[in-house]
Amino acid sequence: MIDMLVKLYELPDGAPLRSALAERGVTVRRCQPYEAHILEEWVGRHFSPKWVSECRVAMAHSPVGCVIATRERTIIGFACFDVTARGFIGPMGVSEDTRGSGIGRALVVTAAEQLRALGYAYAIIGGVGPEAFYERSLGAIPIPASSPGIYADLLPDPQ
Ligand SMILES: CC(C)(COP(=O)(O)OP(=O)(O)OC[C@H]1O[C@@H](n2cnc3c(N)ncnc32)[C@H](O)[C@@H]1OP(=O)(O)O)[C@@H](O)C(=O)NCCC(=O)NCCS
Repeated sequence: MIDMLVKLYELPDGAPLRSALAERGVTVRRCQPYEAHILEEWVGRHFSPKWVSECRVAMAHSPVGCVIATRERTIIGFACFDVTARGFIGPMGVSEDTRGSGIGRALVVTAAEQLRALGYAYAIIGGVGPEAFYERSLGAIPIPASSPGIYADLLPDPQ
């Protein structure tokens, strides 16, 4: 799993992506500190304990490092930033039944915009799974020889 580099000075505009989703009843916004326990429960149910740990860190700094997608007051996706390492985007995920409809793209572009607003010129997607998703959504490019990067010597989850 490699890392990828994103030029934050050449991002696509997130506003039209969010507007298109809003017309379909989907809101993309910052997760609020008082929603941290709801985010953690949702990520634990849909993804993994390690991602719950990373969400906990995202929600522990101010401003929080997590954007969510919601529909009918329910989380359907999330994207964290400035968590695993400074300037990193991830983890992120979209609920299985809503994938393929632009929610991941809107989330990751919004997270990248927030990193840019914090003063970064580049972001890094750490330990990428779907490279084509990040290439299409952000113009991200692979970082040579970046595996395993910071993800060496991972502790296994307890059984
Ligand atoms: C990866 C993920 C967040 C994408 O979310 P999504 O809402 O389905 O993505 P979108 O609909 O916004 O897709 C945006 C673009 O990426 C492409 N894309 C989406 N998922 C892809 C994948 N797994 N592989 C290749 N391309 C993908 C789409 O085809 C679309 O391209 P196009 O519009 O240029 O044709 C989602 O599939 C997911 O939650 N996966 C499981 C968790 C995961 O892998 N997280 C990332 C860890 S690094």
